[in-house]
Order: sequence, then C-alpha cells, then structure tokens
Amino acid sequence: MNQVERKYDLYSQEFKHNAYATFAEMRNNDPIYCQLGLDGVTPIWFFSQYEDIEAILRDKRFVRDEALSKDPEDRYQPSPLDDLLNNHMLNKDGDDHRRLRNLVSQAFTPKRVADLRPRVQAIATALITAVKDKGEMDLIADFSFPLPTIVILEMLGIPAEDRDKFKIWSNALIEPQMTQEGMQEAVKQLTDFTHYLRDLFNKRRHEPKDDLITALLTAEEAGDSLSENELFSTMVLLIVAGHETTVNLIANAMLALSRNPEQLEQLKTHPERMPQAVEEFLRFDGSVERALNRWAIEDINYKGHQIKRGEPIILILGSANHDENKFANPEKLELDRHPNPHLGFGKGAHYCLGAPLARLETEIAMTSLLTQLPDIKLAVPENELRWRFLPGFRGLESLPVTWRVD
Ligand code: HEM
Repeated sequence: MNQVERKYDLYSQEFKHNAYATFAEMRNNDPIYCQLGLDGVTPIWFFSQYEDIEAILRDKRFVRDEALSKDPEDRYQPSPLDDLLNNHMLNKDGDDHRRLRNLVSQAFTPKRVADLRPRVQAIATALITAVKDKGEMDLIADFSFPLPTIVILEMLGIPAEDRDKFKIWSNALIEPQMTQEGMQEAVKQLTDFTHYLRDLFNKRRHEPKDDLITALLTAEEAGDSLSENELFSTMVLLIVAGHETTVNLIANAMLALSRNPEQLEQLKTHPERMPQAVEEFLRFDGSVERALNRWAIEDINYKGHQIKRGEPIILILGSANHDENKFANPEKLELDRHPNPHLGFGKGAHYCLGAPLARLETEIAMTSLLTQLPDIKLAVPENELRWRFLPGFRGLESLPVTWRVD
C-alpha cells in the first residue's frame, strides 16, 4: 500500500471542505477501517461510529502512552527535547495521569473559571472596539485567536510583551513537518521555547506571583509530585490547548451561523440561549476533529477486527458527533438541540480539562460579536475559505467578515 492507495482521503483541502460527507461514508461502509496514516507507512485503525468511539475512550486496553504497548526493545527512544515536551497528562495513563491532572485541575474548576468572566468579557469588548470603525476584520487574527490566547497566557503568568512568540512556538508544536528543513526549524523554535521557559521559571522562583506557573513550581519543589520534564510538558500542553482549540471553535461557529441565517437571527433575539448553542457548535463543527492516537496494549478482537498490540487507533470525534444512530438530523445545525451528548471534548479519563474555560470563552465571544456587530457577515464567498493543514483539528486559515459602520 502507498499513499495513493488510501481509501479515504483524510488530509487534503478538498477533504477539509467536505469532511462530514467523508465521515458519513466511513460510518456507513467501513466503521472500523485500517489504512495508512499521514506518513504513508504506518497502518492506523480509524473508528467513525459514536458507540465504538465512546466505548474505546473508556476502555483501559487502549492507552495514550505508546511505550506501554511496546516491548522495551521496540520502544521509540525519545530525545531530551521530546522528554521535555511530551511528559504531560494527555500522554499518560493510570496513576501518572491522575497525579498530573490533579495538579492543575484546581485552576479549571467551574467556580474558578466563572471568576474569569469579567476579564474574558473585557478582552472580548476591547478586541471588538479596536476594529469596530473599520467595518471589517479577519475574525481569526483580530478576535478569535487573541481572545483565548490572552486568557491562557494571563492565567499562566506570561508577560504581555512576550505573547507573540507563543503563537510561533505553539504552531511549531502541532504542525506536522514533512521536510528536513521544516523539522530543523521546528527543533530550533522549540529549543528557544524551552530556554524561555527555563528563564521564566527562574524568575518566578525568586519572585513568586499569583499565577499557574508559580503554582506548578511550588508543586515541583514540594517533592516528587512533579518532575522538571513534567513541569515543562504541562506548560506546553496548556499553551497548545489554549492556542489551537477555542480559536477555531469560535470561527467554525460563525461560519455555521452564516450558513444558517434563521438560526443566527434567533440567537440575536435570544442571546440567553447561547450556552446551549455552544454545545451545538461543539457537535456540529467542533475544533478537535479526532482524539489523539490510542494504542492497543494487548491483541484485541474488536467486533471481529483483529487489532494487534502496539497498533495505533484514531477515534474521529467529528464523525461520532454526526452519527445518525445517536443524533436526529445530524447534518442540521439545531441550536436548541437537547439532549446533546456530543464528544467534542472527548470522554473518559482524558475528558477536556479546559472545557469550562472553552465554554465560557465561546459563549462570551459569540454573544459579544452578535450584540456589538449585529449585522456581521462573511466578506468572501465560502469556497474561497481555506482550512489549515492540521490533521485532527478543524481550523480555518482566516475568516474575513464585514459589518456596517454608521
Ligand atoms: C473549544 C475548545 C476545546 C476543545 C474542542 C477541546 C477538546 C479536547 C479534547 C477532545 C480532549 C481529549 C483528547 C483525547 O482524549 O485524546 C481535550 C483534552 C484536554 N484539553 Fe481541551 N479542548 C478545548 C479547549 C481547551 C482549553 C482552553 C484548555 C486549557 C487551556 C484545554 C485543556 C485540555 C487538557 C489539559 C486536556 C488533557 C486532559 C487529560 O489528559 O486528562 N482544552 N480537549
């Protein structure tokens, strides 16, 4: 098999424009299907039905830590940089996962997040005020990117003047590199990133503040609860999660509303329905299309498919969220859909820790846009929009919008 022989194209721009049609085909014809991944050599199991995806997310035989599924001699030997970046909760299982998650979960409880409301609102209003008189903006660059990134960097305690660097670093962490030069540049960026963090940690050790960095450093110093690698990696995870997720959900929601003008009007007259609408945005076109790879820790016969120990598994959350066996009229945006058991934030042990924050940010972002720029609309035909090449995520490169200036 080579790349051309893949049955389902899951990477091209064309796919990105019609992803849900591809997923419907997979659910109907090949709900459990093994084909080559992006590298063109690794066979990967793709799951597209809700029932299976939910079951596997809860099944302890499918793990996040690849090493657990391999014999010691077959394990990938991580570089010191890998060790610094990848030792976080989302790559761990069992007790290690619980320990790492508990250390930061305090910062993301619904109560702590609710306390952020005035600050998130102030940032949203300031961003809109900055562009209001222009009558146009790139919704992503000018609004949906800065909003959640300012929030997470402030929570962590990153100085405002350093924010721009994080965009480059976050991108270097998630963009797949297909060339040698691309790979070298990414390693250089990530090395700069670790130097920056090391300096910042030193500053906070001498001058603690009321921020997440100081809280994590305290945990590290308290003993064996957090190693240095885990400290770095936890920062990495929170930075990436804060830079690559809510930004796209807000933009995808605006695109969905522009395709459904009646629903848009309803939401304008009933902004109090926004929290329920946010759940539908997560289902209809959520920003995390797939869970991160799982690995089988033993040979498993799953519904007649022989999955071997060590084989990677991809669970397509975006497909589960459009499964007709779970949702009536799945291809319709229904802002008052209830119940709405979408898997946009995953399920089980790794259920999104930032979900309360992401919900709050999206609710405030969408309400602010619709109330402060009530006639906002797309500035270009939909077919001119381009999706970012990021397997597993659904994010537009830009979303030009306009409104009337009186
Ligand atoms: C709309 C925005 C977001 C979406 C759609 C989203 C989605 C997800 C999903 C699907 C997972 C599970 C991945 C898996 O099981 O493989 C996850 C995990 C996680 N998310 Fe989010 N996320 C969002 C925003 C955020 C934010 C803003 C933060 C924090 C800054 C965050 C922090 C995390 C963390 C720490 C995990 C790992 C949890 C664990 O391993 O126990 N997320 N997210």
